[in-house]
Order: sequence, then C-alpha cells, then structure tokens
Amino acid sequence: MSADVDALINRMKSASSPLRDILIELHEKHRNDTSGEVATYIPELARADPNWFGICIATIDGQIFEFGDSRQQFTIQSVSKPFMYGLALEDHGPNYVLSKVGVEPSGDTFNAIVLDEKSNRPFNPMVNAGAIATADMIKGNSQIERTRRMMEMFGRYFGRPVNIDTSVFMSERSTGHRNRAIAYLMLNAGMIAGPVDETLELYFNQCSVLVAARDLAVMGATLANKGLNPITQERAIDDKYIKYLMSIMYTCGMYDYAGEWAYRVGIPAKSGVGGGICAVVPGRLGIGVYSPLLDAKGNSVRGVKFCNEFAERFGLHVFDPHAGNDLLGELMRGGRKGSKQAS
Ligand code: DON
Repeated sequence: MSADVDALINRMKSASSPLRDILIELHEKHRNDTSGEVATYIPELARADPNWFGICIATIDGQIFEFGDSRQQFTIQSVSKPFMYGLALEDHGPNYVLSKVGVEPSGDTFNAIVLDEKSNRPFNPMVNAGAIATADMIKGNSQIERTRRMMEMFGRYFGRPVNIDTSVFMSERSTGHRNRAIAYLMLNAGMIAGPVDETLELYFNQCSVLVAARDLAVMGATLANKGLNPITQERAIDDKYIKYLMSIMYTCGMYDYAGEWAYRVGIPAKSGVGGGICAVVPGRLGIGVYSPLLDAKGNSVRGVKFCNEFAERFGLHVFDPHAGNDLLGELMRGGRKGSKQAS
C-alpha cells in the first residue's frame, strides 16, 4: 500500500466524530477487562494477544467509524456460518436447505454430537453439525471450485480479496476429529452427500478465513443494506434470502447464550471462537467487534459487553418500542453529542 493511502487511512482513523467518540468511550471502559480466556484448542488461536480489542461500525450509506485494533486480522471461525447458509440458500432455495438443516435453537454447545431424532437433521446451521451439512450443500464441480465459490462470496461481503490462514486451517484439519465424527454421523443418516473429506476441507477452510473487525462491520452493513455492500455497491447475496439468514442469527447466533442475547441486546449477530462478533441493525448498520478473550460459552467478553451497551444506549433492540428515537441517526450525521438514553 502506498504511503499516500496509508496517510489517508490514518487521517480517517483519527478523524473525530460524535459516534466515534462513543466507540472510544466504550473501548476505554472495557479495554482493561481481562476476564475470559483465549481459545486454546489449537496453538494458533492460543497465541492471540488478550489485549487486542477492535470495534467498528459501518453504516448502510458507507460510513465507517472504527477504533482500537479494528484492522487486526484473525480467523472468522463460526462467524462464517450464516454467510455460508446464505450461499446454500442461493444454491438450492429454502425448501431443500430446510430438508437438510433445521432452524430450531438447540440450547446445546456448538460442537454437540446430536441430530434431531425424528428428522435426523442438525438443529440449525449455527451448530457445527448444521454448518457442516450447510458446507456439504455448496455447489461446485471440484473441491477447488467449491472453495473458490466460498472465497468469492466472502470477498463480496468484505469488498476485498479473501485470504485463508493456512496454519489455522492445517491445525483445524489435523485436530478436527469431533467434526469428522459429526460428518460421518450425518453421512450415515443420509443427511449429507459427501465426499465427507471434501466437505470437511471446505468447512475447515471457511473457519480459517482471515477477517478484521472492520470487515465484520461491513459484512453486517451489507446484510443491513439489502445485500449490497455499502462500500463497493456489489451484491453479496440475493435479497430474498436475507430474512432467513438474519432470523437464524437472531435465534441461534450466539451459541447457547443466543436466548439471553436476543433478550438483552436484541439484534441478529454471530460470534466465533476467534473472538469476532458480527451484528446487524436491520436497515441501518453493521457492528464488528474483535477481542479474543472468550467467556465460558465461547463469546468474546468485551464484544458482548460492547454490543450490549451500544445497543442499549441507542435503543437498537428490534423490539424496543422507543427505538424510533433517532439519536443514532443524528450522531451518524455528525450532530449532537450522545447522551445516555433514559431507560
Ligand atoms: O469447528 C470447530 O471446531 C471450530 N473451527 C468452530 C469455530 C467456532 O467458532 C465455534 N462455533 N460455533
């Protein structure tokens, strides 16, 4: 990248705005919170710096507000799952996809080895079983083509070329026996077509895509913007599938904390064990947060706290009867200083 572009980015990053001031305030409030643990199931994730904390808001009119380690790259992990579900919907339509993967919150941990007893379907596309069944549905004549389609799909959401962390991928592949067990169980039940190894390769690759909080915010803003990336104006997903994708995020996106998240924060979101959270305020903006310290359920501790406070402050809960108050809109336009809403 040229020095000119670097200088421009730095100027934009340091530009003051009332909304960015709030990001700074919330970042300051939570950056010394060292509760939680980084994921250790593979050595690459265990090496994450517990101090990393990046936040970004991307609006549907293409504004970006970011602070902290918002450009620090990490692996997307399970945040990939709803977006792959969107690709499966585009490939097959909802009826076929629903015949293979349910849409019920499971309340189980994400890597539970359990299928719905009556239908043999995984409970939903956000648990590993459902995500593997979803990966199995991604079309392509070869392993390479299916991986390429996955990477192109993420590229449309990011607005840039996609890279995969190969050492994370190798570790996921060499340690992923539980996922292999889940995949064979589904093959046995006739829920996936296979070849199992190819589908697992695709799943491990999708988990190893490199992102930053900024990318997660733009992905969220793309969903908020009827599927059009607000920076590049490129279509990332057919808009008729967005309601399905976001309802799954709303009901199942935060592991077995999904119910409490829906209750408290009240916006569709997905987290990953890399420490990322992507959240969507429909019709308005996307939120991307990165902090690798995870709580016992696998969600980023600082990420959950930031989203909770940000949503409460601006009345973003989708069922908040006072959500019409447009403090956030004013701040986005550079208006008055954000005061805490009466609650
Ligand atoms: O499948 C695994 O073990 C991990 N790569 C899953 C990633 C993750 O974020 C957990 N998800 N629900």
